[in-house]
Amino acid sequence: MDKYIAEPFKIKVVEPIKITTLEEREKLIKEANYNLFNLNSEDCYIDLLTDSGTGAMSQLQWAHIMQADESYAGSKSYNRLIDKAQEIFGYDYIQPVHQGRAAEKVLFPVLLKKGKVAISNTFFDTTRAHVELTDARAIDCIHPSTKKIQENTKFKGNMNTEELENMIKHYQASNVGCVVMTITNNSAGGQPVSISNIQETSNICKKYNIPFVLDAARYAENAYFIKRDEPKYKDFSIPEIVKEMFSYADMFIMSAKKDGIVNIGGLLGVRTAENNAELIEQIKSQTISYEGFISYGGLSGRDLEALSVGIESSLDINYLTYRVGQLEYVAKLLDEAGIAYQSPVGGHGIFIDAKAMFPHIPYHEFPAQVLAIELYKEAGIRTCDIGSYMLGNDPDTGEQIESEFEFTRLAIPRMVYTKAHLDVVVQALININKRANKIERGYRITWEPKVLRHFQAKLEPINE
Ligand code: F0G
Repeated sequence: MDKYIAEPFKIKVVEPIKITTLEEREKLIKEANYNLFNLNSEDCYIDLLTDSGTGAMSQLQWAHIMQADESYAGSKSYNRLIDKAQEIFGYDYIQPVHQGRAAEKVLFPVLLKKGKVAISNTFFDTTRAHVELTDARAIDCIHPSTKKIQENTKFKGNMNTEELENMIKHYQASNVGCVVMTITNNSAGGQPVSISNIQETSNICKKYNIPFVLDAARYAENAYFIKRDEPKYKDFSIPEIVKEMFSYADMFIMSAKKDGIVNIGGLLGVRTAENNAELIEQIKSQTISYEGFISYGGLSGRDLEALSVGIESSLDINYLTYRVGQLEYVAKLLDEAGIAYQSPVGGHGIFIDAKAMFPHIPYHEFPAQVLAIELYKEAGIRTCDIGSYMLGNDPDTGEQIESEFEFTRLAIPRMVYTKAHLDVVVQALININKRANKIERGYRITWEPKVLRHFQAKLEPINE
């Protein structure tokens, strides 16, 4: 299991990519107002902006797409997806939706409102936004090990359960609308959560009668780390571990664009239908209002088909070993070059510690965005900031929040790039690291929208 495995697939279709010059990239990034979301993908040589919806689908998925039933209600494709999802996750009620944030939009208004709080190991940006859109407040209980970026600790994604219990007491259990466990913990560096931590969190939720929700976008990668690093589970299969992880929660929300290996899709699940009839009714009503009829949830029949295959194929141990192996390969080269990252590497990306590379650039000049822009200029590599720039402003005071981390995330799309592409990425990082002290200042925001500002904000370099 620890050995590097070469790609457990052959490549049948290829997509050419364009190589640009430094002059062209400097012009393009300026025209994009130094926001990488504004770049055209054809101007990116290696696109590591996200692992979401960017994976390569298998021949089996494409074959299923041809068999899709596009009926409005009760299609064969819907039934196939529900059967498969119930089998894998062990939940009674499964609701397809068009992506992860749609599951958030459907579920959170049912659980949250003004005066309530939601607590997580770390909320992802859209999840936090959907909590705040209900006028509730989102609180993170980050595990202390997560903050020690270069310390090689297992399960850095874990919930700080001591802090969780303190928070529940502080806000009073009746005001805590839900506890959300993000697996893997994206914003903390794609770090996994152990089953013992999921179980402990579940017990706390039961004690205080608080709904426990998994935000399970990267469930397969999380299960791989449990098999590898949680001794009790080393002889369990990945499907067995997935079943067990989900068994401790009451509900799950899922962006299926990650481990579901589809370009679009999401799921929402309720573990037991018994005693949850009202909740399920509310989920159905919300889905019909925002997503479409319950048997398609904002997706076409072919999307449902691709998803019914994808949620299972990501459970293959050879695929997962190869995938995490890609990240470990990059990590080893970064260690040799003395470049710091959230260590050990997690499941879906390498989170470079931009604060360590640019210690002289303060959080309000966005060091992780600085590195993202440099990577684009250096080699046409598109990445993103997971730091103060992404975190945005405090919803109560409007002040810029200082993030615990200033990460530049190199998200690796599933089965898309080869080892040679990864070598280009490492070389670009090495080149930037060598000239890091010559990059003196960061960026200022010249315009920003109120919600999820990092997707659309305009920036300019600070020169004075
Ligand atoms: N939860 C987690 C943990 C996520 O990583 C994401 C998306 C979502 C929810 C929302 O899902 O995009 O399908 O609506 N993460 C992407 C990323 C965008 O780049 O990490 P969505």
